[in-house]
Amino acid sequence: MTLRSPLRLGPVRRFTRNLLCPVDLLGRPLLLKHTRDPVGSLAEVRGHARLAPHYRVPTLHAHLRVPGGRLLAYERLPGGTDHGLLLDLLNADEASSELRRAYMDQLTAAYREAILATATPTDPTRVVRKLYWDRAAPGGRLDDYYAGKDFPIADDLIDVPVSRLGTYTLNVNGRRHHLDWVAILR
Ligand SMILES: Nc1ncnc2c1ncn2[C@@H]1O[C@H](COP(=O)(O)OP(=O)(O)O)[C@@H](O)[C@H]1O
Ligand SMILES: [Mg+2]
Repeated sequence: MTLRSPLRLGPVRRFTRNLLCPVDLLGRPLLLKHTRDPVGSLAEVRGHARLAPHYRVPTLHAHLRVPGGRLLAYERLPGGTDHGLLLDLLNADEASSELRRAYMDQLTAAYREAILATATPTDPTRVVRKLYWDRAAPGGRLDDYYAGKDFPIADDLIDVPVSRLGTYTLNVNGRRHHLDWVAILR
């Protein structure tokens, strides 16, 4: 019989400025994250605490100020490429019953509950704009990608140009819809 080490360290990875290291401690999968920005890392800790009552988020077991940043120890969720994201479910060949019935309902119900419980009008100067403001502003990335461009709705599947989408009636779950691409972009 071979004894497994109680501590196993995985390779360090990075996506932004931060470093992530998978750690198995006594069989528990953890993710150690080293963040260099002290303001950002505290915002992450505070944001996690505010999300946790509303969404299923990985447990933040501990965090610690260290020289050059902050160390955060998260519960590590199973993952890997092409598995586990909403996009992976949406890209599956067949819409599984898991996706149709259970998952989408749970997802929209969770967002609906959290939004109804927490949404309040907020002074525009206090809004965190990082994720969308620049790209949605006139001349931003959305315009870069799409303004004045025409392309098939779905390559090789639906070769209707997106500019003509609005001339079609879409039948979704028995309800009729119109989608005007140019108006949506605006
Ligand atoms: N608790 C976790 N369990 C599993 N994978 C995670 C976890 N947290 C983050 N990841 C993976 O690591 C990536 C980067 O993590 P993230 O916290 O977004 O780092 P950064 O702040 O550097 O963008 C995520 O997109 C996700 O793929
Ligand atoms: Mg990230």
